[in-house]
Amino acid sequence: MSVVTVIGGKASEDLAKRLARKLRAKFVSSELRVFPDGESKVTISAKPKGKIIVVNSTYPPVDTNLMQTLSLISKARQFSNQVICAIPYMGYARQDREFLLGEIVTLSVIAKLLSAAGASKVIVVDMHSILGLKHFTIPIRNVSAVPELANYLKKIKLKNPLVVSPDLGGKERAKEFARLYGTDYIALQKQRDRKTGKVQIMTGNLDGVKGRDLVLVDDMISTGGSIVKATQFLKKQKCGRIYVVCTHALLIDNAEKKIKKSGVSAIISANTIPGNTSIVDVSGVIAKAI
Ligand code: R5P
Repeated sequence: MSVVTVIGGKASEDLAKRLARKLRAKFVSSELRVFPDGESKVTISAKPKGKIIVVNSTYPPVDTNLMQTLSLISKARQFSNQVICAIPYMGYARQDREFLLGEIVTLSVIAKLLSAAGASKVIVVDMHSILGLKHFTIPIRNVSAVPELANYLKKIKLKNPLVVSPDLGGKERAKEFARLYGTDYIALQKQRDRKTGKVQIMTGNLDGVKGRDLVLVDDMISTGGSIVKATQFLKKQKCGRIYVVCTHALLIDNAEKKIKKSGVSAIISANTIPGNTSIVDVSGVIAKAI
């Protein structure tokens, strides 16, 4: 078997250790010092050998974590020309197109930076859109946490469950989740004001949710605005309990509190972003892609 080293960035240390165990790879940790002006000084703790996998998510502080990821890739490249970069949560993935005239498609800048730093391949988990993958000129593999999330949810007893996507963009994800979970699904129609970021649910009254426990499935929760609006709407339709399942729980500011207050029973997310709700491990899914 070829020699593999996993380098764990500070943003994904636990996930990187789990991945190293799954791959029976050497684990190299990184030390981090942040200078008073905000600059990051990253140091790796040992010499990596063989094929190298750098693991680091780019959740907030996004730019800082991105810079640390680029630094680790660049260092890894000194030891190997096979540097796989696993970015379980890819920040900037929502900036995949020019929504308003003059906007910069920042994801395409990230793609250039990752290859310039020395990555030979990128692995991401549930990238926000397929379009986003097209900005990369080096191979990129998008793996999904949906099967693991669906398996986890099977442990919770729900009454006549229905899977709901809070927007039409997430319809395929909800469909796949429902197939694996073994139930039906619907997708709401959500509208977001591109200037203010405010969301509204445009769907009219729904038959068929009354009394049913719902599983709201999304790729990510940021401010929680989408989930709160969807929950308020679904509660008006007299549904049963609502469980929220997502891959990436950013839960900015008091999003978790806001979501629970709106009537959600529990939030279940993957460990692409560490936190209170990050119950589902994706190291196995990433290992399979390597
Ligand atoms: C949007 O298309 C995404 O799939 C999420 O629904 C959205 O990014 C969540 O953001 P927030 O929690 O701020 O509403």
